[in-house]
Amino acid sequence: MAEVVAGVGVSHIPALGAMMEGTSGGPTATVFDTFAPIRDWVAERELDTLIVIYNDHASAFSLELLPTFAIGAAPSYAPADEGYGPRQVAVAEGDLDLSWHLIDKVIPEGFDLAVCQQLDVDHGFTVPMTVLFGSPQEWPVRVVPIAVNVVQQPTPSAQRCFDLGRAIGRAVASFGEERRVGVIGTGGMSHQLQGRRAGHINEVFDRRFLEEIVDHPDRLAGLTNTEYIHEAGSEGAELVMWLVMRGALSDKVVEGYSGYHIPVSNTAAGIVALDNVGAPVGVVG
Ligand code: DHB
Ligand code: FE
Repeated sequence: MAEVVAGVGVSHIPALGAMMEGTSGGPTATVFDTFAPIRDWVAERELDTLIVIYNDHASAFSLELLPTFAIGAAPSYAPADEGYGPRQVAVAEGDLDLSWHLIDKVIPEGFDLAVCQQLDVDHGFTVPMTVLFGSPQEWPVRVVPIAVNVVQQPTPSAQRCFDLGRAIGRAVASFGEERRVGVIGTGGMSHQLQGRRAGHINEVFDRRFLEEIVDHPDRLAGLTNTEYIHEAGSEGAELVMWLVMRGALSDKVVEGYSGYHIPVSNTAAGIVALDNVGAPVGVVG
């Protein structure tokens, strides 16, 4: 049987990717020290498949064609060309059987995922892979990408994202094949890249988020998108994707690791790693 073993929330700032692969050339030791412990932690979980909750930044999608929720059902996912050529990272191999199982289970529950049988993935997906796994020739897991629109209003609410995670958790628990599954939510933490509040960082809110995502995700799911934008900035609202991850885990989790660094680029960078220790979502016990 498949099992959601662990969840990770992690920033996807392009500069963080460069630092974690050692190509940024700058003084990176502190940032590296904050994020590198996740690599051993994840390796010890012996994951087969990673469900990656991320947002596309008008790379594979566009502002003219932008699904609210989308899921990959492709044999592989190449890094997207974001204007400077694709990031030089491995192509990710898809877990097709799990993708189709999630599609068959989650859509009938009322989450209308756009199904993508061809999909390039941008830094929202590839930077967290570098943070978790370094720069291998092949990623050590297969993947299911799930994209959430957090770039063009109206975006789905935090509660809706949490509930989507619940549906994903239930679907994984009903998958008949053996899989150790990890779920990662990417983006954040507080940042705004544009307008009068460009450079906005809110450490108080970020630290509250890192704490409450462990045992009180309901409090975070209860915030409106306007509150997210107000507290975390227009791009900091990416944090709702961490709630999809958290929703896929049971009520009971154990925090394995948490880290925070400001700034990376213009952005607050954070990470949290959670072991799923309770009964699977949707199973009483
Ligand atoms: C940065 C942060 C993001 O979330 C992103 O998608 C792109 C850039 C940044 O801080 O540079
Ligand atoms: Fe982003």
